[in-house]
Amino acid sequence: MDARDSLARFRERFCIPKTKSGADWIYLCGHSLGLQPKTARSYIEQELRDWADLGVEGHFHAKNPWMPYHRLLTQQTAALVGAEPAEVVVMNSLTVNLHLMMASFYRPTPQRHKILIERGAFPSDQYAVKSQIVFHGFDPAVSLIELTRREDESCIRNEDIDSVIEREGNSIALILLGGVNYATGQLFDIAGITRAGHAKGCTVAFDLAHAAGNVPLHLHDWGQDFAVWCSYKYLNGGPGCVAGCFVHDRHSHARHLPRFAGWWGHNEKIRFQMGPEFQPMAGAEGWQLSNPPILALAPLRASMEIFSEAGMERLRAKSVSLTGYLEFLLHQQASSSFSIITPREEIRRGAQFSIRLPHQGRALCDRLAAEGVIGDWREPDTFRVAPVPLYNSYLDVYHFVERFSAAL
Ligand SMILES: Cc1ncc(COP(=O)(O)O)c(C=O)c1O
Repeated sequence: MDARDSLARFRERFCIPKTKSGADWIYLCGHSLGLQPKTARSYIEQELRDWADLGVEGHFHAKNPWMPYHRLLTQQTAALVGAEPAEVVVMNSLTVNLHLMMASFYRPTPQRHKILIERGAFPSDQYAVKSQIVFHGFDPAVSLIELTRREDESCIRNEDIDSVIEREGNSIALILLGGVNYATGQLFDIAGITRAGHAKGCTVAFDLAHAAGNVPLHLHDWGQDFAVWCSYKYLNGGPGCVAGCFVHDRHSHARHLPRFAGWWGHNEKIRFQMGPEFQPMAGAEGWQLSNPPILALAPLRASMEIFSEAGMERLRAKSVSLTGYLEFLLHQQASSSFSIITPREEIRRGAQFSIRLPHQGRALCDRLAAEGVIGDWREPDTFRVAPVPLYNSYLDVYHFVERFSAAL
């Protein structure tokens, strides 16, 4: 399979960490922190050189002038998430963007004040939505609805999501789900949930931290109001890298929307007139606050160029096959000491595979890590691994299962 894989050559473009004996790590952790593209260093060095040589003049005269630098990422980001260029911007970090978006799009009223999330959403999302509810003078005990899975099941059923939206929709102000749940790896039906939510008059949004660069997205056509994601997981932008944000173009000229403003979201034609009145730029850029961190954007450029070359559809095809291979091998190990909680249907999952290890799972995860077999542990009982199509091989998956079984 590796010999036939037309994407196999992309592995060479990444720094694969090594064991003391010089063997490549079996790194199945791109759902947490993607590996470094080898070109990241030269992209950062270019900006360091221009800063050294040009000082403030770099804003206009750097090889890649810093003033419009963030736009070097716009086309590729839009293509990656299926958006119009004006609908996306790379800025801030994920939770910051989530709050900025909620400042504009969570407008609770006494009749419609609820937020719908999934139980077990990533904690930052839970804290963010609860704090927004409180900020608006409502009570999370009343205004937060959590989608739950049925007893003895590990993922949330589509029909259960539909029925909650049908039942509660008239009081829901905002639906905010993870595109792919961080713990179970469940991929939600983003288009279907958006349709159902809009039919009830709700604002619909997604946290795509585990979906961007993992599964194909068509945000413009699916029509959700906003989406946010980070760039350090599947997008390989580096630790804490600058995040992404999508605002559907139906809101692009919505000047009436309240927003937390900063000078980088202000009409760039008159930004340096230093006037006192904020005029937001059209599109997602109108939500920017600050001038962007060039040194953090540079490695993301390196990675996004690789994504554009590989193409998300091809990556998805390999990903389905790689994760399917992992599933096949794990099933052969049939053992009562672990179970798989990620959905079996490929349309309900991305690259990630979540393995429930109720007994001493953490110790097993640590032991594998000491051997250079890297997944990660999420309390209380989940071992997450993700074969990433850009740099993982079928052999990685094979060796992982071999080591995992031995460690079990
Ligand atoms: C689903 C999800 N949401 C939010 C976050 C928080 O991201 P940040 O620390 O970049 O704000 C993470 C981080 O892993 C995440 O996985």
